[in-house]
Parts: sequence; C-alpha cells; structure tokens
Amino acid sequence: MAALDSLSLPLSLREFGNTSVVGLQWGDEGKGKIVDLLTEQFDFAIRWNGGSNAGHSVKVSDKKYAFHLIPSGILRPECTSVIANGVVIDPLKLLEEIDALITQGIKVEENLKISLAANVVFPYHKLQDQLGEVAAGGGKIGTTGRGIGPCYADKANRSTAIRLIDILDDNRLKPKLQAIVAYKNAVFAAIYKASPFDWQPMFEQYRACGEQLRPFITDTTRLLHTAWKAGKRLLFEGANAVLLDLDHGTFPFVTSSNCGTGLSVGTGLPGTAVQSTLGVVKAYSTRVGGGPFPTEQNNPLGDKIRQRGNEYGTTTGRPRRCGWIDAVALRYTAAITGATGICVMLLDVLSTFDELKICTGYKVKGETTDWFPADAQELQTAEPVYETVKGWHESLDQVTFFDQLPANAKNYLAKLEQYIGVPIKIVSIGPARHQTLIR
Ligand code: GDP
Ligand code: IMO
Ligand code: MG
Repeated sequence: MAALDSLSLPLSLREFGNTSVVGLQWGDEGKGKIVDLLTEQFDFAIRWNGGSNAGHSVKVSDKKYAFHLIPSGILRPECTSVIANGVVIDPLKLLEEIDALITQGIKVEENLKISLAANVVFPYHKLQDQLGEVAAGGGKIGTTGRGIGPCYADKANRSTAIRLIDILDDNRLKPKLQAIVAYKNAVFAAIYKASPFDWQPMFEQYRACGEQLRPFITDTTRLLHTAWKAGKRLLFEGANAVLLDLDHGTFPFVTSSNCGTGLSVGTGLPGTAVQSTLGVVKAYSTRVGGGPFPTEQNNPLGDKIRQRGNEYGTTTGRPRRCGWIDAVALRYTAAITGATGICVMLLDVLSTFDELKICTGYKVKGETTDWFPADAQELQTAEPVYETVKGWHESLDQVTFFDQLPANAKNYLAKLEQYIGVPIKIVSIGPARHQTLIR
C-alpha cells in the first residue's frame, strides 16, 4: 500500500475499469470521499438513485462540501457529473446546491447533466412524508422528511407523477399539477385534516425552476451510452446503502429506492457497462432513523464512537446510532452487490479502544447463523456473536503507508477481510484526500 498524494492516484486504480461505488451498511460510510478521490481518473460521475435524502461530505484542503443531489465528481473540472433517471429531484434543493457550488468557484454550468426523465419532488411529497411519520407514531421509519417515499410512490403510480421534462413546459405541467394537487388536497384533508395547497403559486415556482434548470436537462441515457461506446471512464456514485435498499434492506425501515442493486434501472446502462464494484464500509457501524441494528451500542461505548467519529447526519444533523462492525451484514451486502473490493473508512475513529468486537454470527431462535435474516422482525431478535480483538491506542495521523499501521489495526483489517471474503483495496484514516491508503 502506498500513501496517496492528493493530486496523483496510483495507476493501479485503472484496473478497476468502470466502477460502481456503493455503501454496504446503513449509509454515511464515506462514499462521497471515495468518489471524490476516484474521479481524478474518471470522465463521468453518475448518481442513479435516491434524492436529497443523501448527504455526501467531501473535504478538500480546508474546504468542506456537502452534496445531496449532485455527484461528488463535480469538484473535478474535467469530469462530467450526471444525475440519471432513477434519482428523484427536488428542484429547489438542487438549485440551492448549484448556487452554493458556483459561489465556491466550482465549474457547474458545463459539467452537470440532468435526466429529463427524473421524477420531481413537490411540497406535497414532503408534507405527506412528514404527516405519515407523525401518524406512524412509535412505528415511524425515521425518514429524512425530504418527500422521497411519496415521490417514488407517485412514480410507480404513474398518473400522479411529474418528470423533469414536464416542468419545462406550461402545457405539460399545468393540467397535471392542477389534477394532482386537487387529489392530494382531498386525501390530506380527509386523513390529516391538513390545509389545502394552492396549485397556482406552486406551478409558477416550479416553472421558474424548470427554466433555471433547462440548460442542464438532457437525455442522459443517450449521453451515457455515447460515452460508454467512446471508451469514456464511468464512475457510479451510489446513494443511501444496501441495508436501506427497498428490496434487500431491513424493510420497512429502508428508503424507497434500490441502493445496492438497480444501477442499470437507474441509468439505462446494462450491467456489462460496469467492471468493478467498490463496497464502502465504516470500520464500525452506524444507522440514522429506526429499525433493527443488532450490534448497536446504546451505551458509553457507542457515545465514544459518535464523539470520535462526529457521527451526526449530513442531511438532517441527527445523531447517528453507533455500534460494532457487523461482518454478517457485510458478507450479505457484499454478496448482493457483487463487491469486488472493499474500502474501509474512518479507521482512525477506532484508535484508543482497548478491545474491538466484530460480529461474526447471530443467534436467532436458539440457533447460530451466519446469513443475514431476510425479515426485519427476525433481525430484531438476533443476538450478535462476537469475536473480540485487541485494539490500538496510537493515533493514525502520521500513517502514510499501510505497513505503518499499528499491528493490531492490521490484524483487525485482516479479520474483516477474512469474514467478508472480499479484498480490502482502500483504507481511509481521515476525511482529507491524502488520509487514504491504497492497496
Ligand atoms: P456518505 O453519505 O457515504 O458519503 O458519507 P457522509 O459524508 O454522510 O459521512 C461520512 C463522514 O465521514 C463525512 O463527514 C466525511 O468527511 C467523514 N470521513 C470520511 N472518511 C473519513 C475517515 O477516514 N476518517 C474520519 N475521521 N472521517 C472520515
Ligand atoms: P447517504 O447517501 C443515512 C435513511 C433515513 C431513514 C430511511 C428512510 O448519505 O448514505 P428516506 O428519507 O430515504 O425515506 O428515509 O433511510 N437514509 C439514510 N441514512 N444516509 C443516507 O444517505 C440515507 N438515505 C436514507 O435516515 O432511516
Ligand atoms: Mg451521508
């Protein structure tokens, strides 16, 4: 492993080919940092799922960027950033993000392309999300309140969906919005006694957003196929994470899109366009929102991880639930995604622990299993079986090569690699670009 200069990635990374970056836990693994690093060697960075529920933080020198909809690749002037069909877009948030980046001197105008087919988040989606959570009481999912679930539900419903291309044209948007708002108002009044939305100002506001976004909007499927055929290098930035995947996560405590699977659905590119999948993993576990979390440490140990890792959400600022690393979950999510390499992030946070635990199995209904239960209720009852390993007290601040890591840190990584069954390619020991060890 060699130390990474912020300006020159080792050529060995070229072996990855077109690469998908996905989170293998419950989100916030550090996907943004990995995408930012890798885009130095890629021509396109592509978001294909989720919406502004995602929060990807990137640190470059003394600057911090928080991305919600725009791919982290936008920081590289030579890289084209694409928001593809599978993303649900809140145009107000997107314009805020574009403005903030332009103010920070980032070249957005020529480098951002947005799919005309992406579905649009409206204020009634956010209200529905928030009212639904309140109504669910103790059974709430703990969503980000960004209207993601209701927008994807309307997309599947088709007749109540609005795509980005619709907000470019009075004649497309007006009749749709009028009908949808009337329908939503009736439903919200009946169920939640909510005050009605007025479609007219919403129409004007969204048409204005459409005009501002017009220069970015295109057929991204065509763009990506042309790029792929021309041999351009494609990097896919997953949002959310596999344990939040609508079909393969801890349902119903998940988000409303596919997160580990579904890249082809979200982009229109076939699976053969992707050669490598990098699974991004924290050196421990965190989760925001509700749902089962077998290795959670709701105690001073978890508090120590939260404090050392600054584990507060990029999108909502909520404290993240913290716990030990779960190799059962990781073996499952690595299998689901076909991960060809693992990036272990935030290893520095684990310095100063006497002992670390790795969950290697679950006890479910009196039996030990190493397969992740398909049902969240069963997972809720799972008792983790741990292997305890020695920790290390040294700071990792001065480490520039893998071999300089404390012996116990290397042992911890070797155990993880063995349990997950996929090689560790990248280890991160701080948020900055240079705090990265590449194998
Ligand atoms: P994402 O959603 O997967 O992109 O992850 P987030 O950006 O939500 O959360 C990861 C946080 O960890 C961000 O604040 C990063 O700047 C930070 N981070 C990334 N890698 C490291 C690391 O190796 N060490 C530390 N201490 N922080 C890191
Ligand atoms: P990134 O890309 C962490 C979680 C929410 C909630 C559940 C459903 O930054 O890793 P939603 O608003 O999507 O309906 O919420 O999913 N969630 C995330 N947690 N990081 C994310 O994204 C998340 N995206 C969704 O906290 O539990
Ligand atoms: Mg995040």
